[in-house]
Amino acid sequence: MKFLTLLAILPVVLQAWACPGEEHDHAHVHTKRAFPQIPLTPPTRQLQWGDINIIHTTDSHGWLLGHQKASPPEPNYSGDLGDFASFVTHMKQIALEKDVDLLLVDSGDLHDGTGLTDGFPAGGVDAHDANKFLSQLPYDIMAIGNHELYIYANTLDMYQNFAPKLKGRYLSSNVNITTLDKHGNVINVPVGSRFAKFTTRKGKKVTSLGVLFNFTGNDKNTTVQHVADMVQEQWFKDAIKDEPDFFLLVGHMPVQKDNWPLVFNAVRAVHPTTPILILGGHTHIRDCVQLDGRSMSLESGRYMETVGWLSAKLDKKGSNKNITFSRRYLDPNRVTYEFHTRQKNSSFDTFQGQFISKGLNDLAKKFDLSFQFGVSPHDFTINRAPFPSNDSLLSLFAAQAMPVALTINNTRANIPNVMITNSGSQRFDIFKGSFTKNDQLTASPFADSFLYIPNIPAGVANKVLPALNNAGANEKREFLEALDKRELEAYERGYVDMIYTRWLEEQDRRSGIERRAAQNLTLGYVTQDSCPGVGDDVLHAPLPFFSVPDFIGSNPPNVTDETPIDLVFVDFIETQLLSILNSVQTDKTFATSDVLPYTDVLASAVLGLYAQQAWN
Ligand SMILES: *[C@@H]1O[C@H](CO)[C@@H](O)[C@H](O)[C@H]1NC(C)=O
Ligand SMILES: *[C@@H]1O[C@H](CO)[C@@H](O)[C@H](O)[C@H]1NC(C)=O
Ligand SMILES: *[C@@H]1O[C@H](CO)[C@@H](O)[C@H](O)[C@H]1NC(C)=O
Ligand SMILES: *[C@@H]1O[C@H](CO)[C@@H](O)[C@H](O)[C@H]1NC(C)=O
Ligand SMILES: *[C@@H]1O[C@H](CO)[C@@H](O)[C@H](O)[C@H]1NC(C)=O
Ligand SMILES: *[C@@H]1O[C@H](CO)[C@@H](O)[C@H](O)[C@H]1NC(C)=O
Ligand SMILES: *[C@@H]1O[C@H](CO)[C@@H](O)[C@H](O)[C@H]1NC(C)=O
Ligand SMILES: *[C@@H]1O[C@H](CO)[C@@H](O)[C@H](O)[C@H]1NC(C)=O
Ligand SMILES: *[C@@H]1O[C@H](CO)[C@@H](O)[C@H](O)[C@H]1NC(C)=O
Ligand SMILES: *[C@@H]1O[C@H](CO)[C@@H](O)[C@H](O)[C@H]1NC(C)=O
Ligand SMILES: [Zn+2]
Ligand SMILES: [Zn+2]
Repeated sequence: MKFLTLLAILPVVLQAWACPGEEHDHAHVHTKRAFPQIPLTPPTRQLQWGDINIIHTTDSHGWLLGHQKASPPEPNYSGDLGDFASFVTHMKQIALEKDVDLLLVDSGDLHDGTGLTDGFPAGGVDAHDANKFLSQLPYDIMAIGNHELYIYANTLDMYQNFAPKLKGRYLSSNVNITTLDKHGNVINVPVGSRFAKFTTRKGKKVTSLGVLFNFTGNDKNTTVQHVADMVQEQWFKDAIKDEPDFFLLVGHMPVQKDNWPLVFNAVRAVHPTTPILILGGHTHIRDCVQLDGRSMSLESGRYMETVGWLSAKLDKKGSNKNITFSRRYLDPNRVTYEFHTRQKNSSFDTFQGQFISKGLNDLAKKFDLSFQFGVSPHDFTINRAPFPSNDSLLSLFAAQAMPVALTINNTRANIPNVMITNSGSQRFDIFKGSFTKNDQLTASPFADSFLYIPNIPAGVANKVLPALNNAGANEKREFLEALDKRELEAYERGYVDMIYTRWLEEQDRRSGIERRAAQNLTLGYVTQDSCPGVGDDVLHAPLPFFSVPDFIGSNPPNVTDETPIDLVFVDFIETQLLSILNSVQTDKTFATSDVLPYTDVLASAVLGLYAQQAWN
């Protein structure tokens, strides 16, 4: 028997993006971003340059200080935005020497992900300060992402403060904001610009768009127009009418299994042979596809774990031969950057790059991001360790951290309990070493509260977690099998973790054991996309992958089945939990009126409170 419809279970598997806002006031431990302590192996292949070359970032989600932990493969992603700025400057110089064009493009999702964006003090706006550093880079085109639209204040900040700095190159072809003009009249206008036309240094004419997938999870007073409707608009037809030397279609939309073909076909209907370069994003994977021989679409991962490279050797206008393209997924670190710019460590840093690194470190200090809760004894990961196990972050959270953190100053601490949450509540791994405010924000950002129902017989309470997971598993199987209306709805609300996780799982299944056994490969992404040749700049062995359940809970208390206990759960899963509780027993029909607040401690504070007790 099935207890839940998929629509009921989806919000659990999904997770709302909240802005954790609590402030802690404690002693400070400042650690500077270290240059990689581990010697990094450089790439071995030079980049392939064309006439048009593009450096691509997407889904950076606040990782502008790079990945700072020592556990593999984090050092591979240790380059910060200052290093990246220096890289771009040197690459521009190489482009001048080669007398070719080099463009810099971003595909959106600048918000939500690290302390630099989410760790702002009360009254602030997510990513407002961090974005000032991004706008110092010479981006030719940036496109809006769905994470710019969950909270109206963030969209307004992009409209008022960020977009103007890009001078017409911040694109939101199908995304509007409703706000007031200077005379107080209500206006509904694009957040950035709908399109941009510009000429490159080498005189190539470019027509560019910035498209967002059919996103439906946006806040009030923001509007996302369906891609299918956008391509019917008169402004769109006018914008693509004149033939440029190439189309640069940027957008927060995955390069496969989404709506790029609608945009591509609309352009192709008018211009059958004009080169079309597509730079996508959103599903956090490395991917590449060619919609025809005169086009290439690239997607460049997430969290500044990938910098994308796309080059094209343009031929004569009107030619219908295949264009020579190349693409590469770079691991963003100084060694990679120095290799491709032929710089030494001593000559690599530009003044601007150092200025940006310093500014970001100052911001981290201002937000107190290196405040240390404790020292993690080893790595705790979401998918790299079996569940349950000592190395599983989900085991740590459910079996260790919740029972400690939720009973602090709690009058019910002595009453036996079962505590349940959803595994989607954990977003990023914890690594050995200092566990800071920034780490708490990256690992466990959701500011959900905890509720309980008292006097549930232990025998009943213990049945709830397995029943939740069974219902979830049934629905998930359908979810995976059928790209039906319900999956689309979750997808349209911005849910992509399942796609990223499936990508990791495939890497491990395909070649995990053999590649990890090959002693010459380090851990990282192993990309298999649909474009010719090898995409990864450095060959890696994939991370081990283990599936995890949708719901996780504390260990059952050592009491008889009849003992009345507290059934504690995160508010996010209330509907599902009540429905399951009413299915595993028939003595009473439980409703919201039976549910009480358990503690003031929010889910986003659990790991920090635990670390203060257990890791000091
Ligand atoms: C990736 O990181 C590992 C250590 O985690 C290191 O051995 C390797 O050299 C790094 N590779 C690159 C290209 O940075
Ligand atoms: C949307 O914005 C307008 C103009 O600022 C405002 O009058 C209106 O109340 C807003 N709507 C909602 C639902 O907040
Ligand atoms: C977006 O704004 C433009 C300019 O005001 C307006 O013409 C258009 O109808 C709006 N689109 C949507 C989908 O709201
Ligand atoms: C986007 O929305 C349109 C209109 O509702 C729909 O026909 C299309 O299937 C949607 N595409 C995707 C990929 O969600
Ligand atoms: C041209 O590119 C297309 C798409 O990648 C491919 O299917 C086709 O085989 C190529 N043709 C030639 C002559 O290489
Ligand atoms: C690289 O240069 C920085 C200063 O720009 C210096 O602090 C660091 O120690 C150098 N690293 C190596 C490996 O030489
Ligand atoms: C897991 O941790 C517990 C407690 O520290 C320890 O007793 C046990 O041996 C560990 N298990 C494994 C497989 O390492
Ligand atoms: C618990 O109570 C103590 C003493 O009142 C207080 O200092 C501490 O902040 C409280 N902890 C939590 C998590 O509420
Ligand atoms: C690693 O070794 C294998 C087998 O010895 C070889 O095929 C592969 O090319 C090597 N990879 C690298 C990156 O050197
Ligand atoms: C469970 O409780 C019983 C009775 O109090 C006790 O004998 C037993 O050792 C306990 N088991 C564990 C694992 O704590
Ligand atoms: Zn994203
Ligand atoms: Zn996204």
